[in-house]
Amino acid sequence: MRVLSGIKPTGKLTLGNYIGALKNFAQYQSDHDVFIFIADLHALTLPIDPDELRTNTKLITAFYLASGLDPHKVTIFKQSDVSAHAELNAILQNYLYMGELSRMTQFKEKSQAMDHSGIGLGLFAYPVLMASDILLYEANIVPVGEDQIQHIEITRDLVVRFNNRYGKVLVMPEPQVTRVGKRIMSLSDPTVKMSKSESGKGDIYLTDDLKTMRKKIMSAVTDSGSEIYVDEENKPGITNLLTIYAALTNQSLEACVTKFKDYRYGDFKKEVADVVVNTLGPFQAKAMAFLHSGEVDRLLAEGAKKAAIIANKTLVKVKKAVGLI
Ligand code: TYM
Repeated sequence: MRVLSGIKPTGKLTLGNYIGALKNFAQYQSDHDVFIFIADLHALTLPIDPDELRTNTKLITAFYLASGLDPHKVTIFKQSDVSAHAELNAILQNYLYMGELSRMTQFKEKSQAMDHSGIGLGLFAYPVLMASDILLYEANIVPVGEDQIQHIEITRDLVVRFNNRYGKVLVMPEPQVTRVGKRIMSLSDPTVKMSKSESGKGDIYLTDDLKTMRKKIMSAVTDSGSEIYVDEENKPGITNLLTIYAALTNQSLEACVTKFKDYRYGDFKKEVADVVVNTLGPFQAKAMAFLHSGEVDRLLAEGAKKAAIIANKTLVKVKKAVGLI
């Protein structure tokens, strides 16, 4: 079975990216064929400073390594290093339709937040490139957070459409979300997703210093009442903190509710903060060591070579199917 996922090197990675995606990748590496990449072409879909893009790309590679991914077992690479992504994109853009692309939640949210005159075509066509990423590697499993499921669903629609026309060419992918933590919410407004594009006290960044992380958790918005239990509607703040705790300690939500049953909010938050700091502290140290080891560039170059072999095979298959060769 093949597994593929990627992270876009925009903004600062959050605890949401860590829990919903990053921390789940390594579990596949011993018994699956795993491809993990940095979606740098996707990063261009919103304005980004070139130096920031370069720095973020290296940092995410270091985060991948710090999360336990072993480059001997897993192929780690940069999307733009493998030209097959752009080539398949050019072909597949003819098989997804304007109507369905305009209904994508991410496009609606991001384009609404911008001045309408400045929306690039790439933002609109974002799912075509993402489908190309997935289909090039014939991925069976795509581990992601909840917000990316819609993009995998449209990829699945494309597979059906394409294969109906050309025969069994593309492999059907399946999204996989983590049991606990598929959507981590902002600490300052638990009704919105924690996000790297927001900048506020509600988002824990993986690069925050540990004191700042602790402070953000201690000042997280909690709900009225004093009891600690799961109720997304009436207790979104407490539910979010319970989810963070459960995900980072690999426990069920039920077990955490039982543990904190008689706690007061303040003491509960302190334990959540301890777990966050004790997880991300060592994680940051490992990431910085990788970043400064000088290994990152070499590793990405090797990864791209390995990835291109698989990607080019699929590209040839697709080109033959549609009549380009
Ligand atoms: P990106 O970079 O926005 O996010 C990376 C991963 O983190 C997950 N995530 C979250 N999970 C839980 N709670 C949150 N608050 C939260 N915020 C983000 C995302 O769901 C994602 O899994 N389009 C993708 C990158 C991409 C990709 C791909 C992924 C490009 N091609 C092919 C998989 C397969 C993106 O922008 O993710």
